[in-house]
Amino acid sequence: MTADSITLIKPDDWHVHLRDGEMLKQVAPYTARQFARAIIMPNLVPPITSTAMAVDYRHRILAATRDYPDFQPLMTAYLTDDIDSNDLIEGHQQGVFTAAKLYPAGATTNSSHGVTDIKNIYPALEAMQKQGMPLLVHGEMVDSDIDIFDREACFIDTIMQPLLKDMPELKVVFEHITTKDAADFVMSSGDNIAATITAHHLQINRNDMLVGGIKPHLYCLPVAKREQHRQALRQAATSGNKKFFLGTDTAPHAIDDKESACGCAGIFTAPHAIEHYTHVFDEENALDKLEAFASINGPNFYGLPINKERITLVKKCQQVSETIKDNILSIVPYKAGESLAWRLD
Ligand code: DOR
Ligand code: ZN
Repeated sequence: MTADSITLIKPDDWHVHLRDGEMLKQVAPYTARQFARAIIMPNLVPPITSTAMAVDYRHRILAATRDYPDFQPLMTAYLTDDIDSNDLIEGHQQGVFTAAKLYPAGATTNSSHGVTDIKNIYPALEAMQKQGMPLLVHGEMVDSDIDIFDREACFIDTIMQPLLKDMPELKVVFEHITTKDAADFVMSSGDNIAATITAHHLQINRNDMLVGGIKPHLYCLPVAKREQHRQALRQAATSGNKKFFLGTDTAPHAIDDKESACGCAGIFTAPHAIEHYTHVFDEENALDKLEAFASINGPNFYGLPINKERITLVKKCQQVSETIKDNILSIVPYKAGESLAWRLD
């Protein structure tokens, strides 16, 4: 490592939305070119709720990433109130499902089939605990009387703590944490609790989204919080603590669905994901901690091998495209048109 260049074990992305159809073909190569593996979110329409559906979806992802034959999509199951526990566990035993995802019903994009009461999935969660199958959590309380900026903190007290009391050995990834409350909670919990942190939550606070005009391309869920929370996330990510690892939550939507009177949540960070994280670690004088966060803590938590390949990033300016388009779809990437300090070699 020099001040202008860093070589890392090839990273993995532990939280990715690749979508399906045309969108999948367009976005998947961006993830596959930087990351060895990616945890694939199951919130399609209809959601991925069975082993058979995951097997088919995995084939479509492999077809879309055939230019990167070493890329490994790691599939997840979408938990519903009536999820079939036997199929879920069999899917995990067969190596199809790496983990299962809890979306509280109504929390975010395509979550209408999500869980309406955590007790409804206790049999599945008990089986997962026994099996050592990780639960990935979208940690937001969705009751209409809870302010959107408080939804993550409320989730900790109302759902997460009681759940872990009932299932103390369940492996849980608190996904895309956005608050100091969540970072502190993860740090003070046992080794079975970890968290992913996105690049955008390390870089933006709610002012970036709302001051001087609303920026629909910075709107995501959980929504960016105040500056003190961003600072806490930066500290957690760059601390070297094994409980925190890279998960972009890259979530592409077509331009018309973002720039709309009722715009979709999600930020398309995949095109330069590792470069955004490198920028943050450089700003924090913590480039020596980037490899743990991006390439080591995740596989260790999931019990998977650490990658053998390496990548190099160099401190050379590059411009982010204004849009990413093919004949059918236009998507605006995160930091469109801006210049980035780091570049994947
Ligand atoms: O901003 C988000 N977009 N948050 C989510 O939880 C889902 C995602 C999506 O699928 O678009
Ligand atoms: Zn997500």
